[in-house]
Amino acid sequence: MARPTVVVTRRLPPSVEATIAERFDAHFNRTDTPLSANALADALKLADGVLCTVTDRFTAQHFAVAGRRARVLANFGVGVNHIDLAAARAAGVIVTNTPGVLTDDTADVALALILMVMRRLGEGERLLRTGAWSGWRPMFMLGHSPRDKVLGVVGYGRIGRALARRAHAALGMRVQWWAPRDPRVDGPDDEGPASAVRVDSLEELLRTSDVVSLHCPSTAETRHLMNAERLRLMPSHAYLVNTARGDIVDEHALVHALREGVIAGAGLDVYEFEPTVLPDLRDMEQVVLLPHMGTSTVEVRVAMGECALRNLTAALAGEAPPDRVA
Ligand code: 8YV
Repeated sequence: MARPTVVVTRRLPPSVEATIAERFDAHFNRTDTPLSANALADALKLADGVLCTVTDRFTAQHFAVAGRRARVLANFGVGVNHIDLAAARAAGVIVTNTPGVLTDDTADVALALILMVMRRLGEGERLLRTGAWSGWRPMFMLGHSPRDKVLGVVGYGRIGRALARRAHAALGMRVQWWAPRDPRVDGPDDEGPASAVRVDSLEELLRTSDVVSLHCPSTAETRHLMNAERLRLMPSHAYLVNTARGDIVDEHALVHALREGVIAGAGLDVYEFEPTVLPDLRDMEQVVLLPHMGTSTVEVRVAMGECALRNLTAALAGEAPPDRVA
């Protein structure tokens, strides 16, 4: 029987690519440049399944393309906001993601951003590299201790809870969280700290947190959740951390809030106009900027690839894929 045809839109860890090549008639993107909208449409016509990433935007037009052959999109990543899920459903295209395997490493980066921004670690490193460090003195570059400060977690899914555990155990932070629904669906091992408090509204969380970390998915409802008005609810000494998706924050409003001292600083791993980062943000010392590195470890990228492959293989065999989102 002919092997299914698969398009893989970006380079993946070698072991994952090798398994894909064994199992499928595989078309790899050897140059690793993001595929254009037309190239994605061609992929849907050529392949039975596409293994895609956050850099591939699949719109309703893609799913309606004449001659479409693909019946599954196996996304390499947990966030699927780059795929029009309603259009995929309407067209009968299965969409899967890679939850779970990336939880801990993403939470690690959120924790690192909290420390970097509160302790001014990015600023210190930048200064040292310019050669401007003149030596130790008691009042040099003082930050703030996270101990006993309140961390407000927005969205309390796997990654939010993993951050909450770390921030409480490692940094001694007090944790509160808000989510429209209680998402604690997994076993007790996966809980947040026992002392974490659920607050009734996002507004209350923003008013009473020293650090706010975003862990909700990007959807029509959460787009610009952190707008100018909500940023103004945060205390002027507070910090915003975002490892979720850029468009949850109105980035222009964030620039304004940082410039006017509405909040004290921000630690960002994702951007509204990714990969473009607003030049104003790049110029600010009170901002830590990482290039979307939440899951960028060898171990996790292999695990994500294997997870996407399990989903792709199952769906193409006519079985239920483990991580179906549409
Ligand atoms: C992924 C991410 O590496 O999993 C996610 O949602 O944001 C990333 O860390 C990226 O999405 C790959 O598609």
